[in-house]
Amino acid sequence: MKKILVVGSSGQIGTELVNELRNRFGRESVIASDIRLPEEDNSPFEKLDIMDGAALKSVVEKHEITEVYLLAALLSATAEKNPEFAWKLNMDGLFNVLNLAKDKVIDKIFWPSSIAVFGPTTPRTNTPQFTVMEPSTVYGISKLAGERWCEYYSAQYGVDVRSIRYPGLISYTSLPGGGTTDYAVDIFYSAKRKEKYSCFLKEDTPLPMMYMEDAIRATIDLMEAPVEQIKIKSSYNLAGISFTPKDIYQEIKKLDQSFEIEYSPDFRQSIADSWPGSIDDTRASEDWGWEAKYDLPALAHIMFNNVQTD
Ligand code: NAD
Ligand code: SER
Repeated sequence: MKKILVVGSSGQIGTELVNELRNRFGRESVIASDIRLPEEDNSPFEKLDIMDGAALKSVVEKHEITEVYLLAALLSATAEKNPEFAWKLNMDGLFNVLNLAKDKVIDKIFWPSSIAVFGPTTPRTNTPQFTVMEPSTVYGISKLAGERWCEYYSAQYGVDVRSIRYPGLISYTSLPGGGTTDYAVDIFYSAKRKEKYSCFLKEDTPLPMMYMEDAIRATIDLMEAPVEQIKIKSSYNLAGISFTPKDIYQEIKKLDQSFEIEYSPDFRQSIADSWPGSIDDTRASEDWGWEAKYDLPALAHIMFNNVQTD
């Protein structure tokens, strides 16, 4: 019987992923866990530090877990402020889960990678699945190393680990956790508060983004696909919508004519400049049927109508 553990369940992705997994597989089949207690009842829940391998094993055995979705990590902007800790958390957490699968304690792993695996020497437009990868951030370095380890554990030990290089994810239920793409969520809060938005990226900085519902569907589709369809054992490129701060500002302005923006780039500009502007996700479509549903107008409409500023 399938029994899922989501590690990092109180974060931006975890909050929505746990809900959707419980809709599909039943509340008691999905154990939420985080180092941070959830704001609302999220039972069944376990307080767990992913860096504590023994505690992880004990939770896995207690609940007879078969699959782990590992979301705990430091994201790009936060990681740059504490590179050594980011490396430790992002790598130790992954090894603790990979080793459980190697020892046949669990059957399957989902671990997210990121567009951050690419770097300034990567082709920026329609970035291919297989290309030059020289990330310049500690976050990107940890994600690229993680991808190589996932492929290694798959090849050497037969571990069933599946992964997506998420673009910037946009959602209204939980705030983002310290990434470079966070501006595309923050901007809606300013718009709803009728405040001028001060954007930390330049107006003409394109980045790949995606509405959270698409990302959650992709994640579960990937995990539920027959194993023989998963041909890429490192991580799949996934594209949603590519836009600049100016593009999203203009889309929001259609919903509120009075909305204003100013551009005040900070250290996150150089991170964004090192990432792709758009992604080629042909392999995800061919291998397991991926297709994005949300475009920029749909995303802007949903976000504008649903962000809560109280
Ligand atoms: P987030 O920061 O919103 O959530 C991460 C969660 O992990 C937090 O609730 C945090 O409390 C928890 N956590 C931190 N340290 C922990 C520890 N030691 N043990 C257990 N839990 C711990 O991040 P997110 O946006 O939900 O991202 C989840 C994953 O997806 C990360 O691996 C991230 O790199 C990846 N990703 C996210 C995006 C995005 O746009 N959100 C894009 C690409 C990849
Ligand atoms: N949204 C993430 C970040 O900006 C991309 O991995 O860090």
